[in-house]
Amino acid sequence: MKKTIKTLKSMKEKGEKITALTAYETLFAGLLDDSDIDLILVGDSAGMVFAGHETTIPVTMDEMIYHTRSVRRAVKNALLVADMPFMSYQTSVQDALQNAGRLLKEGGAEAIKMEGGSRIVEQVKACVEAGIPVMGHLGMTPQSVNQFGGFKTQGKKDDDAEILKKDALELEKAGVFAIVLEKIPAELAKMISEALTIPTIGIGAGPHTDGQILVTQDMLGMYEKFKPKFVRLYASMAAEIKSAVKEYAKDIREGNFPNKDESF
Ligand code: KIV
Repeated sequence: MKKTIKTLKSMKEKGEKITALTAYETLFAGLLDDSDIDLILVGDSAGMVFAGHETTIPVTMDEMIYHTRSVRRAVKNALLVADMPFMSYQTSVQDALQNAGRLLKEGGAEAIKMEGGSRIVEQVKACVEAGIPVMGHLGMTPQSVNQFGGFKTQGKKDDDAEILKKDALELEKAGVFAIVLEKIPAELAKMISEALTIPTIGIGAGPHTDGQILVTQDMLGMYEKFKPKFVRLYASMAAEIKSAVKEYAKDIREGNFPNKDESF
C-alpha cells in the first residue's frame, strides 16, 4: 500500500509505530521498499556514509538530487523524503522554496526535511503553502555540528529542553507533517511526542517516539569503526562482505574462477 503523509498521521492516531530507514541509491532503496518500510529518507548522511566526508556539511543540492533520483526509481510504496543540504534553506525563504522545489521536480521526492526550529519557521510555512510537505528535525541536528562542538546529545539541561519543546510546537504550527528527534533524552522525546498531534520519529531518542529511523548501513553492521549507542545491529554485513571478497580473490589467485560453466 502506498504510504503518504496522511498515512503517517493516521498511524500516530491509531498508536501504530512508524518505521523509517535511509537510502542513497536504487539497490538498497528497492530492498527497503520490498520490506515494507513506511518512510525512506534520502539523508544528507550520504555525505558521510556514501562519500566519506567527516560531516554532512559539504553535501550539495546537485548531490542530493542525484541520490534522490536514484532512490526514486526503486520506491513504490514508502513515503520518499529527501534532506535539504546545509545552506540550501537557511539563507532565505526564496532559497528554501527553490531548492525544495528542485528535490520534488528533479529528484522525485514527495517531501523534504529541514533541520532547526524557530529559525526556519518562515521557510517551512512558505514550502507548505507551495504544496511541499516538510518534515522537521530537532535535537542533535548534524548540520549544526560545529555549533554543538561535536555530535553531542542535546536537551539535557532544562533550558535546552524547554527550547526544544517550544521549537517542536512552533514547527507543528508552521505545518510540518512529522519531526525527527535526534539524540535527546528519552523522557524529553516522550514529552514532545505527547504534546504534538503530528508524529515524531526518533533516532537515539528512546522508545516513546511515534516511529524510529536509523541509517541503514549502521543497522546492517556495514561500518565497523564506530557504533553509536543508539544503533542496534541487525546484521554483520561488513564481516560477510569481506569474507565473500576474500574468497573471490582466493578463487582467482588459485585459478578456480571462472570455471568451465562460467565461461563461453
Ligand atoms: O541524514 C540522515 O540520514 C538523517 C537521519 C539520520 C535522521 O537525517
